[in-house]
Amino acid sequence: MANGFLIWALITAVSAFILIFALRVISGRWNRKTAVGFFHPYTNDGGGGERVLWCAVKAFQEESPDLECVVYSGDHDASPQSLTARALDRFGVKLLHPPNSHIEKLWRISNRTKRVYPPCDTTGLQVLPLEREAKTPVIISVAQFRPEKAHTLQLEAFSVALGRLAADLPRPKLQFVGSCRNKSDEERLQNLQNKAIELKVDGDVEFYKNLMYRDLVRLLAGAVAGFHSMTDEHFGISVVEYMAAGAIPIAHNSAGPKMDIVLEEDGQQTGFLARSVEEYADAILKIIGMPGTERLKMAAAARQRAGRFSEQRFYQDFKAAIRPILRHRSQ
Ligand SMILES: *[C@@H]1O[C@H](CO)[C@@H](O)[C@H](O)[C@H]1NC(C)=O
Ligand SMILES: *[C@@H]1O[C@H](CO)[C@@H](O)[C@H](O)[C@H]1NC(C)=O
Repeated sequence: MANGFLIWALITAVSAFILIFALRVISGRWNRKTAVGFFHPYTNDGGGGERVLWCAVKAFQEESPDLECVVYSGDHDASPQSLTARALDRFGVKLLHPPNSHIEKLWRISNRTKRVYPPCDTTGLQVLPLEREAKTPVIISVAQFRPEKAHTLQLEAFSVALGRLAADLPRPKLQFVGSCRNKSDEERLQNLQNKAIELKVDGDVEFYKNLMYRDLVRLLAGAVAGFHSMTDEHFGISVVEYMAAGAIPIAHNSAGPKMDIVLEEDGQQTGFLARSVEEYADAILKIIGMPGTERLKMAAAARQRAGRFSEQRFYQDFKAAIRPILRHRSQ
């Protein structure tokens, strides 16, 4: 009798849980090959969630190369062939078995559930100098131009902050960086640009669409702060990237940023949490008004905290979570 192993990776919308791996051992009556099943609702969103999935698959393949990996996904528009090609192309993961689409049920086995933070590839960001040009403090905002990212809130907060800026403080600049998936996103970006004109801050705001990664890194290297304003985001990889790059995060006061990311590191504050336009504006003014040494201290603590979500850490924690079942398998 052969054992079959199924691992469901569930991303819950309910809480700050980042990624939950529910492990279950199934005894098969048939002489099947051992396989690992991943459940992932969105396998091709092009963002952090997709990266988590393929890094998890890669971790399995490194630990146990003979295991078959099967991906169950909710993407109706993704074919097994296109997912297989994307995994190889973007993340260097070769699937042993083409992913299956659609899942009907969602299992929860809390007893065998482990939490592993998603892998953020921040090594290139961790080496950027923490010092920033002080004449024009840059606030960066990195997010796809999709509705839930709430770009308008950021723009309004920036405008309020400019209106309240003390005469002795430097005038900041806001840089929006993001990709557009389709025409709706393009329209959203256009509306944002119109809104900047309407608020009379268009001279202080820059827009960058579909940047190359190295250009994004260049911008992150110049930013004193990073904006995030999505409500109830499971995790918030962009927030970790700000922190790794030395930009102090101003993130939404909910879910991932609140419960996992923007927490104190060795008793030192690592960033700001906000919800309303006023709170975001306050945070901007606080960062701009900070003495250089204080800003450096906070940025250094934020960078240190970001290390908790590194790719290396992911592999370490994920492999620790799967080892018990791999051991079970060889018994
Ligand atoms: C959880 O695991 C423990 C120890 O393996 C076991 O005794 C307990 O019955 C399990 N609970 C559930 C709800 O499966
Ligand atoms: C763009 O993509 C989003 C998400 O997939 C979708 O909801 C929206 O309808 C799309 N818009 C267009 C014009 O295709």
